[in-house]
Amino acid sequence: MPSNPFNFDLMQKSILILGACGQIGTELTLALREKYGNDQVVASDIREGSKNLMDSGPFELLDATNYDAMEDVIMYYEIEEVYLMAAMLSATAEKFPMRAWNLNMNSLFNVLNLAKEGKINKVFWPSSIAVFGPNTPLENTPQSTIMEPSTVYGISKQSGERWCSYYFRKYGVDVRSVRYPGLISWKTLPGGGTTDYAVEIYHKAVSGEAYTSFLKSDTKLPMMFMDDAIRATVDIMEIESDKLTVRSSYNLAAMSFTPAEITASIQAYIPEFKVDFKPDFRQDIADSWPNSIDDSQATVDWGWQPQFDLERTTEEMLRNLGK
Ligand code: SER
Repeated sequence: MPSNPFNFDLMQKSILILGACGQIGTELTLALREKYGNDQVVASDIREGSKNLMDSGPFELLDATNYDAMEDVIMYYEIEEVYLMAAMLSATAEKFPMRAWNLNMNSLFNVLNLAKEGKINKVFWPSSIAVFGPNTPLENTPQSTIMEPSTVYGISKQSGERWCSYYFRKYGVDVRSVRYPGLISWKTLPGGGTTDYAVEIYHKAVSGEAYTSFLKSDTKLPMMFMDDAIRATVDIMEIESDKLTVRSSYNLAAMSFTPAEITASIQAYIPEFKVDFKPDFRQDIADSWPNSIDDSQATVDWGWQPQFDLERTTEEMLRNLGK
């Protein structure tokens, strides 16, 4: 049974984050606690997270593939909204295909089925640029286009999108989703993704070390600073339901750059910073993803506008990691 040492107020909106200790979950939990009150946002994961996260509000050890345990926590805290941030990312999923499929799909079915049964009202589930594949138009990839993902992670996200759309149409489940690009943050490290290089590189730069990129110097990928990603997530969950015309997942964009370009933007502050390039198996994954994304539908439907370009991202990353 869950424990509740906090002053959880059953009159207020109550939120559960699954996978709260990961790269996105950590910042999302802190942002939602700031917005709705610390005690209204229950963090959960299969392991404990940062001190900040653990000390600021309720936490439950919870495996997102365990339906009964999830239902217990939802009933206990009278949860209304669930953010499902638990997932196995692209590079790790290539090593453990079945584990990735089981985690990424079963956790989604658990949440969608709890919503279908009326036990929660609203669901956020993230998709990814990984839903696209080698046959997708590379530049300014449209919202609706050829989607033939070639990675386990991409297949799970594309299937997830179809199921979200199905649950919305068939059962009226209010599920909302965005296709995150590679996410850059300084509070929590990512794990197991192909875009992780764009976070690791800043850590190396501030510690005075050289960096070996696992992608080629000219591999361009869509990226976003975490503050933009969190704002998009909070905004899409706030908008009136009838404004949303996409119930699979919205394209979302902020900037696109290559390893050579992010290196140059760091060298503007740290001229002696050195990078070399040794592509590994993640190069194939990156090559199958778009260079840039058309996110105009998100702008039209719920006013999406990014605020961070590469220059501003580098400034924020170096300032915060350098502290
Ligand atoms: N950042 C993710 C990854 O690289 C893509 O969604 O796996």
